[in-house]
Amino acid sequence: MSVQRPFQQLASRATAQSCVQRSQHSFQGLRIPQQQSRCLASVAPPVTQNATGSKGPTAMVFMNMGGPATTDEVGGFLSRLFADADLIPLGPLQNYLGPLISRRRTPKIKKQYAGIGGGSPIRKWSEYQAAEMCKILDKTNPETAPHKPYVAFRYANPLTEETYNKLLEDGFGKGRGGRAVAFTQYPQYSCSTTGSSLNELWKWRQRLESPTRNPDLSAAEAEGSIQWSVIDRWPTHPGLVEAFAENITKTLETYPEDVRDNVVLLFSAHSLPMSVVNRGDPYPSEVAATVWAVQQRLGFRNPYRLVWQSQVGPSAWLGAQTSDTVTNFVKKGQKDLVLIPIAFTSDHIETLFEIDQEVIHEADQLGAEGRVRRAESLNGSPTFIKALADLAGAHLHGGEVCSRQMGLRCPGCTSERCLEQKRFFTGLGQQKNKALTL
Ligand code: FES
Repeated sequence: MSVQRPFQQLASRATAQSCVQRSQHSFQGLRIPQQQSRCLASVAPPVTQNATGSKGPTAMVFMNMGGPATTDEVGGFLSRLFADADLIPLGPLQNYLGPLISRRRTPKIKKQYAGIGGGSPIRKWSEYQAAEMCKILDKTNPETAPHKPYVAFRYANPLTEETYNKLLEDGFGKGRGGRAVAFTQYPQYSCSTTGSSLNELWKWRQRLESPTRNPDLSAAEAEGSIQWSVIDRWPTHPGLVEAFAENITKTLETYPEDVRDNVVLLFSAHSLPMSVVNRGDPYPSEVAATVWAVQQRLGFRNPYRLVWQSQVGPSAWLGAQTSDTVTNFVKKGQKDLVLIPIAFTSDHIETLFEIDQEVIHEADQLGAEGRVRRAESLNGSPTFIKALADLAGAHLHGGEVCSRQMGLRCPGCTSERCLEQKRFFTGLGQQKNKALTL
């Protein structure tokens, strides 16, 4: 279920009168009072619009955590990562502990990036996936074409701030309106990942486009700000499931036929601190939903487990840990194991180094004889890129602002930033609507 808004209205040049008329619109039955809703009707068509009848151009912004492209970028990447309390909550000492931990970890992590070729491939894959998806959308959704690909990373270049400024340079916002879709590249929602990216996007939107935060903006510029919608989760999209199933099947085919159905599938996702899980974060259940859907597609031919990797520090994290699980299985004689990265859409340090060079290497040292393998990441999979286009096309066509689920905060959330971000992206402005943002 989604929060809907007729996007045909977004690009329509409007008068103050039409703003009043439309201000009593409803979201899934919720009436949004005029002074509390975003006044969508006041947005002028973007000046860059170049096709009669088209509501484009449309910016498609891929959000992800990013990774250092070179070893020189590792320090900055880690310092941003450990400063983010949404991702790594370090309590009141975050500003002291964050820099300390990132400085101490930098030499070790630099070596890891050197070991996978000198940098993360996530930018290369993200830019490729976004560009290829936009090519498909230009054909399938001509009414919102041209679709322009952007990437906004939380901890590495291009950072959200840089991408937001690029959007403004490219003719979106600043009095010209225009539509942008924040498309999370984390299929399963976590407040640590998608939530953090949206908090950052909202922060820069306020700094660059809100008249209350940016007094240099003219009234016209403030009126014609970028109109955002969000694809905030897609854990069981059939195209995503199919892309995972294809890669798993290819890996299973590398095993002899007589053992193939006895290979244990280990779906591996990045772990979370238990403090985040116990706050009510939706990620564990959404990752489990992906795993179940993939297994259903594969006919439950193989036994499987969902396991969790990349735990940092001494506090309690969600388990069982991927590395321990592999070690235990191999020691017990179950050597045929396929590891499947299930919560990322391209290769990154956790697949190329942690799984390939640590977990699988250690398994071989215990006698796994090359029988612990990894399914390829989604990377340039045409099935996956088609799935992205299918998702985005339905979003653009359907007038979805975000999923219905996005308005609900974690039961244990006390963050004002989460609250304000959700009010903004769900289109509820300052409305104190308890039904959506408890
Ligand atoms: Fe989940 Fe704030 S921590 S909504």
